[in-house]
Amino acid sequence: MKNYRIGIFGLGTVATGVAKILKEQSHIYAEKFAVSFEIVQVVVHNLDKKRDPKTSGLTISDDPKTILDNPDIDIVIELVGGKTAAKTIIEKSLKAKKHVITANKDLIASQGRKLSRLASENHVGLFYEAAVAGGIPILRALSTSLASDDIEQINGIINGTSNFILSQMRQKQMSYHDALTLAQEKGFAEADPTNDVDGIDAAYKLQILADFAFGKQINQKDIQMGGIRTITQTDLQDVAELGYEIKLLANATIIANKLALSVEPTLVPKDHPLASVQNENNAVFVTGKYAGGLMFYGPGAGEFPTANSVVADLLSLVNSGDRPAVFNSHPDSEVSLAGPKD
Ligand code: HSE
Repeated sequence: MKNYRIGIFGLGTVATGVAKILKEQSHIYAEKFAVSFEIVQVVVHNLDKKRDPKTSGLTISDDPKTILDNPDIDIVIELVGGKTAAKTIIEKSLKAKKHVITANKDLIASQGRKLSRLASENHVGLFYEAAVAGGIPILRALSTSLASDDIEQINGIINGTSNFILSQMRQKQMSYHDALTLAQEKGFAEADPTNDVDGIDAAYKLQILADFAFGKQINQKDIQMGGIRTITQTDLQDVAELGYEIKLLANATIIANKLALSVEPTLVPKDHPLASVQNENNAVFVTGKYAGGLMFYGPGAGEFPTANSVVADLLSLVNSGDRPAVFNSHPDSEVSLAGPKD
């Protein structure tokens, strides 16, 4: 039995879920994979914050060095979010030859390739399935089962908050404002919902998806951007009468050998699988030259779905043997970018 020692940065919803899954599933991992995981240290920003009682057995400090300078910690799970502190944590961990798992879409969208190179140079792994579409294993599907295919198009509902708002407006005839307030009350939308409703959060995830599907580092300026703030009840009802639903879609499409990228409210025909995705759920529709159209559907956020993706990364990492795979290690492709429309 090999024991892996873990340090976790952050103890919010997802980290708490990770701790619970590791506890509940430990006997399964021991039987199936002959591995055990031990959370030896958690580092948080605010030691006084109220925690889930189930995390009471964990050793918690507010000093990053208790993880970064601990030579016995093999794997770091970064769940603090944001770009600045997280980047320092990930870089220092990789340089200290610790494997890293993160759910940080904001950082990975722009720095994923750079950090993957740093991981390779240090002979450790960097995994981030939880960064895109929460519980849906879409990055793993693209990098394994679909690696043989020639992906032509990706269309995704990858921001749960905006999909929840549009669904409430459509089903319950709520105004945009009331639906947003409900999303905030339910904890989907942030107090400042800009990233969710203006397409920025979806664009981060599209950057990562497009890199996996098309082998291209994408900048946010390459994406044609639009949000849902200006969608009205009347718009939703009018297009419904014509046989469409309005969804905030993230799209990456090869057109005439160029990759066109957009996040924008899109008319989806009612008979397309994406039209039926309701509330805070996510879905990614992948069109492959050989596999055809595949729909990946499920919860795009939440404690256990997102935590399960983190733990799946842990298992990938420890099962990859002496050569820890960097999640996205394919070379840059030749595809050129179409650029956003004027
Ligand atoms: N704010 C995000 C969403 C959370 O609504 O989808 C998950 O990334």
